Amino acid sequence: MTSMELVADAADRLAAAGVPAAGREARLLLRAVASVDARLHPLAEIPPEVAGAYAAVVERRARREPYAYITGRREFFGLSLEVDRHVLIPRPETELLVERALALAPRGAMTCDLCTGSGAVALALAAQRPDLQLTATDISGEALSVAERNARRLGLRLRLFAGDLWAALPASDRGTLDLCTCNPPYVDAADWLGLDPEVRSWEPRQALVPPEGWGCFLHRLVAGAAEWLKPGGWLLAEVGVGQALAAGDLFVRNGLTEVRSHHDLAGIPRVIEGRRVR
Ligand SMILES: C[S@@+](CC[C@H](N)C(=O)[O-])C[C@H]1O[C@@H](n2cnc3c(N)ncnc32)[C@H](O)[C@@H]1O
Repeated sequence: MTSMELVADAADRLAAAGVPAAGREARLLLRAVASVDARLHPLAEIPPEVAGAYAAVVERRARREPYAYITGRREFFGLSLEVDRHVLIPRPETELLVERALALAPRGAMTCDLCTGSGAVALALAAQRPDLQLTATDISGEALSVAERNARRLGLRLRLFAGDLWAALPASDRGTLDLCTCNPPYVDAADWLGLDPEVRSWEPRQALVPPEGWGCFLHRLVAGAAEWLKPGGWLLAEVGVGQALAAGDLFVRNGLTEVRSHHDLAGIPRVIEGRRVR
């Protein structure tokens, strides 16, 4: 069959399964499997064994498995990261967290990324700023394995620790951090039920829904700043839609100063930053 015929059939299958932008996804999957762009080469003959492999990935996508898990890759801040079902697929809006950290981190800063998942934020910082001394933590050992493989493949250095929020860090790090980033789980359990099947059925629930509720989780994060940051050190957290005001209030009530929020490209207040008093 030609690439055009295969993509047309696949697009029908994906559309019937409710996949948004089915035609585009069908073309992307063919390019991933066969290295053929069906728009540029519509009459390219696809060998039967490649067509079989394509049918298999189209079936996975029709079951609403995210494209990034099928290909095992996601671009983030110019890096190609390995992703699998143990890690959240890094989102474009999280690049703002990296941009703010790059703007605030002093030269040689002791920098920590809590809730690192695939290592996206920490590795983007390491790639941009070789002067930073980077640590990354997560409660999930499987996620840390993905982060470790990403670091090794990209030739970037990270200290990695498993554990619950700040408790993952060695005691000797107390009061030494110049800057800490965190993209915490921040979806409420009730909202999780309404998420797309790609997210709800495939991404780790632990990466999205904090058992104690997002406000309590964020409170634990912010409350640790006084203990783990250096005087004058920065805490930066990503927040969900509608959470910025309450999050900023939490920063202020926990004694952080210079508290500001920053908007993502969709105009949503997405990153809250604040500083431990000098
Ligand atoms: C929203 S994901 C962020 C992943 C990555 N930083 C990113 O932006 O793509 C949240 C991460 O927090 C981790 N996590 C959940 N609860 C945690 C806890 N109590 N302590 C540390 N990490 C936690 C999850 O395993 C997940 O990797």
